[in-house]
Amino acid sequence: MSARIRHRFTGRFALVGLSIGVVTGLGGQLSLGQFAVAGIGAAASFRVTSATGNYTLGLAAAGLAAARLAGRLYGDRVTGMLPPVMRAIEWRSGDIVVIDQTLLPHRLVRRTLRTTEEVAEAISTLRVRGAPLLGIVGAMGVAQAALRPRASRSATVLARAEQAGALLAATRPTAVNLSWAIERTLAVARAEATSLGPAALARRLLQEALAIHAEDERACEVMAAHALEFFSAGATVLTHCNTGFLVTGGRGTALGAIGYAHEQGLAVRVFACETRPLLQGARLTAWELGRLGIEHALIVDGAAAGLIARGEVSLVMTGADRIAANGDVANKVGTYAHALAARAAGIPFVIVAPTTTVDLKTRSGSGIEVEERAASEVLSFGGAAIAPKGTAARNPAFDVTPADLVTAIVTEQGVARAPYRRSLAAQVRRAVRA
Ligand code: MRU
Repeated sequence: MSARIRHRFTGRFALVGLSIGVVTGLGGQLSLGQFAVAGIGAAASFRVTSATGNYTLGLAAAGLAAARLAGRLYGDRVTGMLPPVMRAIEWRSGDIVVIDQTLLPHRLVRRTLRTTEEVAEAISTLRVRGAPLLGIVGAMGVAQAALRPRASRSATVLARAEQAGALLAATRPTAVNLSWAIERTLAVARAEATSLGPAALARRLLQEALAIHAEDERACEVMAAHALEFFSAGATVLTHCNTGFLVTGGRGTALGAIGYAHEQGLAVRVFACETRPLLQGARLTAWELGRLGIEHALIVDGAAAGLIARGEVSLVMTGADRIAANGDVANKVGTYAHALAARAAGIPFVIVAPTTTVDLKTRSGSGIEVEERAASEVLSFGGAAIAPKGTAARNPAFDVTPADLVTAIVTEQGVARAPYRRSLAAQVRRAVRA
């Protein structure tokens, strides 16, 4: 059939694109950028003139496809372009693609990390942060160093992996997931360096990193289901820092559990503590809660104890960066104060964290290294100085909540309760066997 194809623009199909864009965009499937490209694609139409008649073909579908493709290819450069299912981290042909968390909530930008130095910089500056995500990015960083540039000897692959592992593990000391995931990946490299050729060895490390990612995604789902028993209809949950999809391979730890309870029809309300000095609660948790459609109010950290004492909170739920063998929990600074307030008011204080955050080698909280960050983070707010020049500041990024204040620790292996030395060890044993 001979056909003459003429391009022309018409408003007719813009309506189709607009509707598709609105529906998928509101459902969180498309970003604003993708929505715009879809609209433009839909606005263009072809008129096909053939022997059998004239047909006008809308390009809405092509517009959508182009938008998705553009999001994949240029997402790190184009603000607001993300694949339909939001992921905090992705492996793309040797590159590690992450959401730059320092720019949220104002700009949603993906960054491509191509070298170990770029990965280390992203971790140190908290572009990527949160215990489980640090583990995933650490393992991917080791695999990346092993894969690029291509090595001719397995010994070289192993040496590069070890070097990258040492550099990345030193970036943040408290979140045990980082060193755990790096060690797990390096253990594979050491075990298989003599039996595999260089290319196969590097690929094997990548496989391990991707397995760590996938396991964390699954763990999030299971933890959320286990945590459901702590929610009652109409619960008001107080949470600290940011523990959602941004910091895991899946839906999140504490915030993942809150989101799941909401999905199950429990009308959960949330107090999100702003989390000074870097405002992970204000910038990131409020943003995630908004996307999830969960009723929430942001509070300054200092307001938490008063609200708990007045009976306005039924549950305190947070994540963790490292859990010692006896159940002492290191988490974002400010968490300990919430646990004390919860105990005084007689409400539960619950931790949600995967077993990869449990560190049986550290006997108690006193053995956990607490990261001290730059004083400048405390002395300024939004880039502006807030204290007289020359003021000294301390900036411990975490604190340790003693086990006796912790009602329960929810992991993917179930709900651990005191005595934690026994219950946590049993959970870790089960996780290793799984
Ligand atoms: O310094 P950050 O922002 O990396 O600290 C993160 C936290 O303290 C989180 O609460 C913790 O990692 C649990 S995340 C699932």
